[in-house]
Amino acid sequence: ESCILRISVIGCGYVGLVTGACFAEIGHQVTCTDNDDSKIVTLRAGKLPIYEPHLDALVARNISEGRLHFTSNAGEAVRSSEAVFICVGTPPLDNGDADLSAIDNVARMIATEGGGPKLVVEKSTVPAQTGQELKRALDVYSRKSGTNFTVASNPEFLREGTAVNDFLHPDRIVIGVDEPAAAKKLREIYAPILDKKFHCPAHDGKCPDSPPPAFVVTTVNSAELIKHASNSFLALKISFANSLADMCDQLGADVQEVTAAVGMDPRIGPQFLQAGLGFGGFCLPKDVQAFIRLAERVGIDFTLLKAVEQVNKQRIDLLFAKARKALWVLKGKKIALLGLAFKPNTDDIRFSPAIDAARRFLAEGANLHAYDPQAMEKTRKLLPEISFARNPYDLVNDADAAIIATEWDEFKHLDWKRVHNEMARPLVIDARNVLNPAEMKSLGFEYYSFGR
Ligand code: UDX
Repeated sequence: ESCILRISVIGCGYVGLVTGACFAEIGHQVTCTDNDDSKIVTLRAGKLPIYEPHLDALVARNISEGRLHFTSNAGEAVRSSEAVFICVGTPPLDNGDADLSAIDNVARMIATEGGGPKLVVEKSTVPAQTGQELKRALDVYSRKSGTNFTVASNPEFLREGTAVNDFLHPDRIVIGVDEPAAAKKLREIYAPILDKKFHCPAHDGKCPDSPPPAFVVTTVNSAELIKHASNSFLALKISFANSLADMCDQLGADVQEVTAAVGMDPRIGPQFLQAGLGFGGFCLPKDVQAFIRLAERVGIDFTLLKAVEQVNKQRIDLLFAKARKALWVLKGKKIALLGLAFKPNTDDIRFSPAIDAARRFLAEGANLHAYDPQAMEKTRKLLPEISFARNPYDLVNDADAAIIATEWDEFKHLDWKRVHNEMARPLVIDARNVLNPAEMKSLGFEYYSFGR
């Protein structure tokens, strides 16, 4: 028998919206708040400020069925709930540290306006020991009322593009608590997901037969570390694959053949070994950076992670070098950039390697044109110097080179013969290793990729 809880979610970004909508979907009463009023207005009108598959339908249904509410009054949201999930941003500061000021603001708001004891859960990615500081801030600022707050950490492992499914069918739910009562409450909150008993939106209402998620209870400090360690390790795998690709380029081996076989060892695993332009997005780069900074602060030299970061930065240099070698002069050449998002199935361009590449080509005076199935609107605001095409074929018309910077399926399935005919020079740099080199060569392309 699952019980319905009253939950508030602070911050309506990717994490907050997915968390709020999914908690409502599994039956809880959820109130979401954000200090950006315009976001709340948009959400109340039934629109989403971000693009994430399934999320629009989930938000709309749960609003109309009365389980999901949006308010710009944060105090009201918190007062109406027994558990508060903090999902505010922790962007990088100039020195790479995570900016925790939003968390600090929220702590003071909860302490003064919370109106009674609550479970306060940090979902934002934060360095270890943030929970301790959060608890201290809550206690200090609530000293007049003497309210007792319990702090827990509950890191998210959501990937953009599959966030709803990742939330509802996770492989593990990690809970960091310093008192058993908090673990009990969080188990209640997640009960429908742990027992796989909820109306599953992506599978016609029935949960798939996959094994139930592990419920991992640790200390708050460990839970915070688990998040940073997970993302750093994923980044490490990618940088490893990228260095391997460079070796393959020099030695005449094929990196995809190598990683496919290496990944068959279950101790290594096949995922996140795709070589190319490197990792981007709002999580991996900033989490690696923040983890390095955290290590420095406690006197640990995490050389390994510094190398991960360095290898990733060099990917753009390497692409640029390949383009320069092939094209000789870049100034005035029409470069067709296929892909702007940091990965497929998202419109997110934050810390996107494709955008870094675009900046380099613009700086060199190239005549840069681009196409992306989702991310053109956001890029237009950031880099108005780019000419945007309506479709890939318009894009490559009369181009001197085409560069694949994001591995959208659409690019795999282009009519490459037609592309060949459209281009001024049939030169393709496949920076995401999505096409078949032999096929491209037989079509008459000058074709370059990474490590094949
Ligand atoms: C990541 C983590 O996967 C997720 O668990 C965490 O909660 C948030 O950060 P996300 O930022 O959505 O999720 O992106 P992810 O799918 O991990 O990809 C990150 C970047 O790595 C992308 O730029 C992608 O193109 C790149 N990548 C990924 C590779 O270059 N090679 C790979 O093999 C895998």
